Amino acid sequence: MASVVLHSAIAAQIRLDIRVVHTRWRTSKSCKIVMATATPVTLRSCGRDTAQGRFLGNSFHSNGKASRTWPSQQQIEIIRSLESWAEEMILPLLKPVEKCWQPHDYLPNFSSDTFMDELLELKRRTFHLPNDYLVCLVGDMITEEALPTYQSFLNTFEGVRDTTVASPTPWNVWIRAWTAEENRHGDLLNKYLYLSGRVDMRMVEKTTQYLVRSGMETHVDSSPYNGFIYTSFQERATFISHANTARFAKEHGDDKLATICGIIASDERRHEIAYTRIVGKLFEVDPNGAVLAFAEMMRKKITMPAHLMFDGENSSLFKDYAAVAQRCNVYTAKDYADIMEHLIATWKIEKISALSTEALQAQQYVCSLPSRMRKLSERAHDQERVKAERESRAFSWIFHKSVKL
Ligand SMILES: [Fe+2]
Ligand SMILES: [Fe+2]
Repeated sequence: MASVVLHSAIAAQIRLDIRVVHTRWRTSKSCKIVMATATPVTLRSCGRDTAQGRFLGNSFHSNGKASRTWPSQQQIEIIRSLESWAEEMILPLLKPVEKCWQPHDYLPNFSSDTFMDELLELKRRTFHLPNDYLVCLVGDMITEEALPTYQSFLNTFEGVRDTTVASPTPWNVWIRAWTAEENRHGDLLNKYLYLSGRVDMRMVEKTTQYLVRSGMETHVDSSPYNGFIYTSFQERATFISHANTARFAKEHGDDKLATICGIIASDERRHEIAYTRIVGKLFEVDPNGAVLAFAEMMRKKITMPAHLMFDGENSSLFKDYAAVAQRCNVYTAKDYADIMEHLIATWKIEKISALSTEALQAQQYVCSLPSRMRKLSERAHDQERVKAERESRAFSWIFHKSVKL
C-alpha cells in the first residue's frame, strides 16, 4: 500500500452530497462503535439515523434500535471456506523472492569502485526535480514506510488474521509475502531520496515515526469483506499514484527514478489484481453480503493510509500534501471516482441479479456514485485552481521551501 491522497475538502463535499441524496445511508458522528474484546465486533447506531430504519453495513433494521454483529459468522465461515481457492488463485500472484527486484538493484553500489560516479550521477539527475514533485514523492515514500500499520490492519480481518505470525494458511502466507514485497517500496524510495540530498531526511524520518505511532482509521471494523474492498481500492490508488510519479520523473529528466516508480507501480498493480480477485469471488459466493459491504465502504469513504501524518510542526500536513498531489495530478479526486467506476466494472456490479431488497438498494446506490463524484471533483478542481493561485505552504521535508497548494 502506498501513497494515495484525496483532498479533505473534496472528500467533505462528497460526504455532504451523499448524505443529501442518500439519507438512507446517513450516519451521525455521534454513533458509537463498540469494539468487543472477543469477535465479532458490535456496531451500534444512534437513534436519529435509525428512526426510519437505516442501512447498517450488511443488514437493514426497521425497529429504530439497530444493533448487530459485524462481520457475521456466515462471512467468517465463507472466508475460511475459500482457503483452498486462495491457494490456487491468489498465492500464484506472489513473485518468488529469487525473481523479485531488490532496492540494491537500483541504487549506487557502495562496494563498487564506481560508487562515487554513480552517486554524482544520481545527484545530477535529481538536482532539477521540482519542489512540488518532491513533496509528492516524499509523501508517497512516507506512506510506504508506514508498512507495519498495514500488516497490522490485514491481521484485524476476521477469518483471515495470522494468529501465530507464522501460520501456514493461504491467507496468512499472502499477508506475510505481500508485506515482504511492499517492504521494498519504502526502502528503495527512502534510499534514493536520501542519496539525492534534496530532502531533509530527519524531518522525513520524524514524519514516518509519527505516522506509524498514529496508525490509521479505515472503518473496516474487522470485516474481511470490507477489508478486501478497502485494499482493492488502495492498491489501485497506489498503482495510479506511483505510475504518475514515474511519468513525471521522466518528464523532469530522471529516467532512473521513472524506472523505480514504474517497478513499484507494477507491484501495486499485481496486488490490485489479487485483492480485486478476492472480492470478485465474494461477489460470486455471497452477492448480497458483498454488495452491502461495498456500499458500506463507499458510504464511509475510503480513507487514505497516511491521513494521520504529522511532522511535529504542521498540523495540516496531510491536507497540504494532498492538495499538492491534486494540483500536480499525482493523485486527484477524479482518480477516486475513476477507481470506483473501475471496481464497479471489474466486479460487474450492475449485472448482479436476484439480490435481496437491501442489497438491491445498495447496488443502485453504488452504481450512482461515480457520476456524482465526478461532478463534485470537477467543482473541487475549479476551487483548487483558484486556491492554488493564492496559497502556498512551506514543507519541512524540503527544508521549509514553499510550494503552491
Ligand atoms: Fe501494494
Ligand atoms: Fe507499496
